Amino acid sequence: MRVLVVGGGGREHALAWKLAQGPFVDELLAAPGNAGIEEVARGVPVRAENVAAIVDLAERERVDLTVVGPEPPLVAGLVDALEERGHRAFGPTAAGARIEGSKVWAKELCLRHGIPTGRAEIVDDITRALMLLDAFDPPYVIKADGLAAGKGVVVAERREEAVQALEAALVDRAFGAAGDRVLIEEHLEGREVSALALANGKAVIPLVLAQDFKRVGDGDAGPNTGGMGAYSPVPFVDAELEARIGAEILQPTVRALAAEGIEYRGVLYAGLMLTDEGPRVLEFNARFGDPETQAILPRLRSDLAEAVLAVAEGRLAGMPLEWSPEACVTVVLASDGYPGSYGTGFEIRGLERATKLPGVTVFHAGTARRDGKVVTAGGRVLAVSAVGRDLAAARERAYEACAIIDFEG
Ligand code: AMP
Ligand code: GLY
Repeated sequence: MRVLVVGGGGREHALAWKLAQGPFVDELLAAPGNAGIEEVARGVPVRAENVAAIVDLAERERVDLTVVGPEPPLVAGLVDALEERGHRAFGPTAAGARIEGSKVWAKELCLRHGIPTGRAEIVDDITRALMLLDAFDPPYVIKADGLAAGKGVVVAERREEAVQALEAALVDRAFGAAGDRVLIEEHLEGREVSALALANGKAVIPLVLAQDFKRVGDGDAGPNTGGMGAYSPVPFVDAELEARIGAEILQPTVRALAAEGIEYRGVLYAGLMLTDEGPRVLEFNARFGDPETQAILPRLRSDLAEAVLAVAEGRLAGMPLEWSPEACVTVVLASDGYPGSYGTGFEIRGLERATKLPGVTVFHAGTARRDGKVVTAGGRVLAVSAVGRDLAAARERAYEACAIIDFEG
């Protein structure tokens, strides 16, 4: 089977790495890929967002299955376009990806179907927004409706900050059309967990749970990013709570989508707050998480290619997934300045030595090859994953590998 992975970040490296291990994959392509992905796949310089060019590529290269990593092409209808031309794809259609592409639509879906989530108001003009803001207690949670590359959510302690966030979206149009509508949401208290599942309309197969850390600094401090690290399993979620997450959130959501005529196929990712009243949805994503995937896939014993093909062909039901009892921790190494502006093109040293440590896999996020050297090419540069008998052991190994790797900044 010829498989195309769409994307070029740490998540896509983890996907390509795992796909390449199975017996079914004869050739792996990646668009656009990165220096690490190219160790297991043939990189093709086509941007993930360019739907027409990806479809052409799948056609030209006679790809049997396209696995879509990031959300923009899903929301833009890449899977619809591939399927129209008779190609199999892993990922939801544009209708399903709306669960991530519109936070307003996702919130309304939850409300229509009784899926537990925080109370929210949907606003599209600043006057009404300011009036409704005072119906909420601080901290205020303000969310732009559309895709904003992780920058559309503001959690504000002070009212002025919340007002600023509302004005940025509704008046200054900082997010363009993605901020035409805004959610003001009840602030939920608790611990966060990422619950991902393979889904195909009827069947829902949860993956092991993970937790990710979005703030840039050590000790969970500083501004939000796309995600700076993750681990799996999540020790504060017992089997009973995990079963509740499946029964109260993941399954009802896929059923709700089906009831609205959407046969959801791909990964459903629920970002949850575990409140005293039970799990509540913070957000949905229509894809694998980044960097959760880099902490989840090293624990997967089953063949990923077989699983994603089963999803794409609608025969997921009853498919068992086997997991290692070991723990996995992934630590993101980022460029100085990220999530703001940063330099690129710095040589990365120590990669080979770090990779030789037992249990360690170094996933490339923002890297490129230049004159035979691997250089930085993004904000998040590497995701260093390590498995170990427990989280402490895995973390120790991950940081040991990080200490070996070096690049400017
Ligand atoms: P999101 O992109 O929707 O996951 O939001 C980014 C982060 O903002 C989440 O990971 C949470 O830490 C926080 N957040 C979002 N919504 C809420 C909420 N209703 N209550 C508390 N924290 C929230
Ligand atoms: N780690 C958060 C995300 O993938 O959206």
